[in-house]
Amino acid sequence: MSKVAFYTLGCKVNQDETDSLAQLFKQHGYFVVDFTDKASVYVINTCTVTQAGSRKSRQMIRRAVRNAPDSLVVVTGCYSQTASEEVAKIPGVDLIVGNDKKHLIVDLVNQKEKSEDKIMVSPRQNLSEFYNLPIPAERKRKRATLKIQEGCDNFCTYCIVPFARGPIRSKPLDEVLDDVKKLIDEGFKEVVLTGIHLGSYGRDNDNATSLADVVNRLGEVEGLKRVRLSSVEPTDFDEDLLKAIEASPNLCNHFHIPLQNGSDAILEKMGRKYDSQFYLNIINKVRSIKKDAAITTDIMVGFPSESEDNFDENIELVKKVRFSDIHVFKYSLREGTKASKMSNQVPSDIKDIRSKKLTALANELKEEYNQKFIGKELDVLFEQHSNGWVFGHSSNYIKVYCAKKKDIIGDLRSVSIKDLQDDGVFGEIKGM
Ligand code: 5AD
Ligand code: SF4
Repeated sequence: MSKVAFYTLGCKVNQDETDSLAQLFKQHGYFVVDFTDKASVYVINTCTVTQAGSRKSRQMIRRAVRNAPDSLVVVTGCYSQTASEEVAKIPGVDLIVGNDKKHLIVDLVNQKEKSEDKIMVSPRQNLSEFYNLPIPAERKRKRATLKIQEGCDNFCTYCIVPFARGPIRSKPLDEVLDDVKKLIDEGFKEVVLTGIHLGSYGRDNDNATSLADVVNRLGEVEGLKRVRLSSVEPTDFDEDLLKAIEASPNLCNHFHIPLQNGSDAILEKMGRKYDSQFYLNIINKVRSIKKDAAITTDIMVGFPSESEDNFDENIELVKKVRFSDIHVFKYSLREGTKASKMSNQVPSDIKDIRSKKLTALANELKEEYNQKFIGKELDVLFEQHSNGWVFGHSSNYIKVYCAKKKDIIGDLRSVSIKDLQDDGVFGEIKGM
């Protein structure tokens, strides 16, 4: 039996797509092994959102070539989509599979012997369909993710993602419902809806459906205990979505709403189409219908021309919102984007300092948020054991640790929260 090994870089969508690719190979008779084992095919699913993503992708490609010079080295994902010629120049790369051809990867690998062609990548405008990949049969975590949307048309001035993922397209609502039902039959209690620009769901389809419709319909699905939205842009919280959020019986009390920056001057240069006041209004609306909602975000420091004053404005807004978690990014110049041509690029030592300051504040705010739940009860979906602990997440995305109990993975249970612990809290499972 032929063996295949995978290495993934980048975001959750990529991690998930690798699981799906593994499933495709298994369906075609391949045996999946670890990346450090001997395999006849190595697949590197790359990332390019920052320079570090591209660099690590190149490192892993070279590692695969070095460790297994006689094996087939296949590169897919966002870096290979945007820089296929560059990837093709890395000695030992046999095949490059664009983001629109991932679903054909096994055929392309099997046909490779007969074909001289190495680069199987289409230009952005041809990435026009929602290419379905199989739902992986086995998953390590008890939370299932489901990609229902692909691509982005926003072209924020710093971002290479619209080039890598192509225009917006959505999985039809009836297919979303079918997939969710399959996941429930497999025993999943929570489904995380993912997408590249999730809030644009349905817009490619003359707005016949929207994310609000998805939330409404999933609220009616029997056995679906939790629905989580991976990330929704502030500009996508329209009245319909807010109403759906308010009415939903199973939507998690957690909203990841990318802010990117708290300075209006920087937001404008980023091409973000809202200002800090608009963002605050959205947060207030969400909090008025979902009490104690966890609001998490992405913030970028060191965008071209970001001054100390701009950074202070950023910090002030963060303090006003009081996020329960922040993913801090240091701006990374991406060739081909508008921001790459802007003057006043910020030196890397300043980016480091700002990133450290913001991360320290983020940790403080996370503790402050978690602290509020000490002495209260939270429903926790248990995901994993480790070193005498079992842990999972609450609806409002607090990581909850409990003393290890047998056979509890996949259970949704009520936990009394006792204290802060590590990156979350510690609690006792009720009735155990
Ligand atoms: N540099 C740094 N971070 C970036 N992101 C997107 N593009 C860049 C870039 N050029 C971040 C944004 C986005 C997250 C997924 O990646 O914060 O929300
Ligand atoms: Fe990039 Fe902006 Fe699209 Fe997000 S919304 S993928 S940051 S262009």
